Amino acid sequence: MSTEEPATSQEGRTQVRQMLLIGAVASAFGIALALWIDWFPAQASTQAKTIDTLWDVLLIASVPIFVLVETIVLYSALKFRMKPGEELKDGPPIHGNTKLEIIWTAIPAIILVGLCTYAYVALVDIEKAEANSMEVRVVGEQFTWTFFYPGEGGKEIASNQLYLPANTGVNFTVQSKDVIHDFFVPAFRMKIDAVPGIDTHVRVTTTDRVGEFPVVCAELCGLGHSTMRQSAHVMSKADFDKKLDELAAPKPPPGGGEEGGGAETDGKTLFTDAAEPTCGSCHTLSDAGTTGTTGPDLDDVLADLSEEQIRQSIEEPDAVVAEGFQPGIMPRYGESLSQEQIDALVEYLMEVKGR
Ligand code: CUA
Repeated sequence: MSTEEPATSQEGRTQVRQMLLIGAVASAFGIALALWIDWFPAQASTQAKTIDTLWDVLLIASVPIFVLVETIVLYSALKFRMKPGEELKDGPPIHGNTKLEIIWTAIPAIILVGLCTYAYVALVDIEKAEANSMEVRVVGEQFTWTFFYPGEGGKEIASNQLYLPANTGVNFTVQSKDVIHDFFVPAFRMKIDAVPGIDTHVRVTTTDRVGEFPVVCAELCGLGHSTMRQSAHVMSKADFDKKLDELAAPKPPPGGGEEGGGAETDGKTLFTDAAEPTCGSCHTLSDAGTTGTTGPDLDDVLADLSEEQIRQSIEEPDAVVAEGFQPGIMPRYGESLSQEQIDALVEYLMEVKGR
């Protein structure tokens, strides 16, 4: 045995070199792949940039470690596997290697302290208050969000969509009417729980990127959790002020008052706009241009329904539930829509059915 030792240690050095070479090549490939993947949606807040950079740095730090460990495991499993008859050929027992142990304790410790410091700096940066910021109150309930803006005379302006001006700091105060929800706009990268009984806060600074970004609920809050989706519209300051004036103005009576011609557009508008969640957010109906999949596809099922059944499905959806769907998900719009609104919806759906 002892005569083999020089050869073995020579071979051992070659193997270590081989392992490190494979590890280095695989790490470079792994980092390139990790950075190439488009992990997140559009960046619509200044916080998003800070967070995405942090993510990239974490990838650059962790991918090589993962790849190196995997390389050693796979290399060892392939190269040093025991073949039949070699069961007793185990090497001499080793007590340990102090130098190696210090190295593999010190390096991860340094990496961890570095990353924690960087993450802390990033956290302070994204939570920093803006000098000129606006306030928005967000209220979650099963299964919708409502957004409140400070209006004149202390009267709040309510909206079922989130409208924000570009390049503005926004302080959100988040509340819940029932269970725990979680206010999340992925494009802002910021989220916070909505907890019944307390106010939670989150701050976001919009960029000059205007557009529509999803607002979702990120806490399982009941059967309709997945339908708790609305939109954040980031717009120019002028458009935002106009929108706020529109929201503050008293709404025209539903149904438009006019008989006949008006009803068609009204029904269609109600289908995509009235109440939350809107019909269109859950149901596909090509005439209204909606593609929701939570509820039955109305392009398919409408033809089989009578006027009475359509009305019942809107007012008391759980009375008859379509095959393959669960009761308790669709809200009872008999409680939230006016009789005129329901009439207009039924009339509209009957018209679409008749085409
Ligand atoms: Cu609200 Cu999930």
